[in-house]
Amino acid sequence: MTNYEYIQVDQEESIGIIRLNRPKVLNALNRKMVSEIVQSMREMDRNDSVRVIVLYGNGKSFAAGADITEMAQDDSIHLELLNQFAEWDDLAHIKKPIIGAVHGFALGGGFELALVCDLLFASEDAKFGFPEINLAVMPGAGGTQRLTKLMGKTKALEWLWSGEMMTAETAEAWGIINRRYPQEILVEETLKYARNLANKPALSVRFIKEAVYKAVDYSLYEGMQYERKNFSLLFSSDDQKEGMKAFVEKRKPNFKGR
Ligand code: CAA
Repeated sequence: MTNYEYIQVDQEESIGIIRLNRPKVLNALNRKMVSEIVQSMREMDRNDSVRVIVLYGNGKSFAAGADITEMAQDDSIHLELLNQFAEWDDLAHIKKPIIGAVHGFALGGGFELALVCDLLFASEDAKFGFPEINLAVMPGAGGTQRLTKLMGKTKALEWLWSGEMMTAETAEAWGIINRRYPQEILVEETLKYARNLANKPALSVRFIKEAVYKAVDYSLYEGMQYERKNFSLLFSSDDQKEGMKAFVEKRKPNFKGR
C-alpha cells in the first residue's frame, strides 16, 4: 500500500484501514491530508482484495475540523480557484462500504468526513458539531446538506447556528451514528462489524449502497426504478446462483464476490 504523510493505511484480511495521523493537532484536516484520504479510498475501491473500508483517528480524536492555520489567510478568489471541495465529492462515489469509528472530537470538516461514512460507530465520549459559525464561516464540505438530510431542517439549523457539540447519545438518537461503545472496544467492535459485512456477497452490498443513496436524492418513483434495475442485475452474478442453490441444498453458500 502507498505511504502517506498524514494518514496511515493498512489492510487486515479484506478490511482496508485508514487512520488519520496528525494527533498533535487532533487530526486537523489540512489539504494534503484530505487529498491523501481521497486517494487512499480510491485505491481501496479499486483493490479487489478490499471489501470494506474502516476510517478512524489516531490519538485523542477523530478530527477537530479543517486546519484553521492553513485557511486563516485565504481569500474567496483563491478558494474558488483552488476548488478544494471538489475532491470531497469523490468520496461520495466510493462504491465499497465505508465505516467510520469516531472518538473524541468530530468537528467541522471532521464531522463532514464522518458524515461521508456509510455507517458510523462512536465511543461514548465522542462529540460532534459544526463550530464554523464561531469563526464567522460555515461548513463547506457538505455539512449543511448531509446534516439536514439526516436530522431535518429544524434541528440542523439549531446545531449549525449554535455551533455547540452534541454527545454521542444525541447523535445516536437522531440517527447520525449507528452504535455507541466504550472507547477501549470501539475499533475492535467496528472491525468485527466490518469483517461480517466483508463476508456478505460483495455485489449485493454494493448495489444496496447505491440504491439507498438514490433514496436520499430521488423521488420514490425514480428510486424504485433504480432499485429494480439493480435487483435484476444481481441475477447475472455467480453469487446469486450460489446463494439460491445453497439454500435449496441446505448448505452454507460460498460467495466469490462476482
Ligand atoms: N485546526 C488547526 N489546529 C487545531 C484545530 C484545527 N481545526 N483543532 C485543534 N487544533 C490544535 C490546537 O491549536 C492545539 O495546537 P497547539 O498544541 O499547537 O496549541 C492542538 O490542536 C490541541 O488542541 P487544544 O489545545 O485546543 O485542545 P483542547 O482539548 O483544549 O480543545 C477543541 C479541543 C475544543 C477541539 C479545540 O481544539 C477547538 O476548538 N478546535 C477547533 C475546532 C473548530 O473550530 N473546527 C472547525 C474548523 S473550520 C472547518 O472545519 C471548515 C470546513 O467546513 C471545511
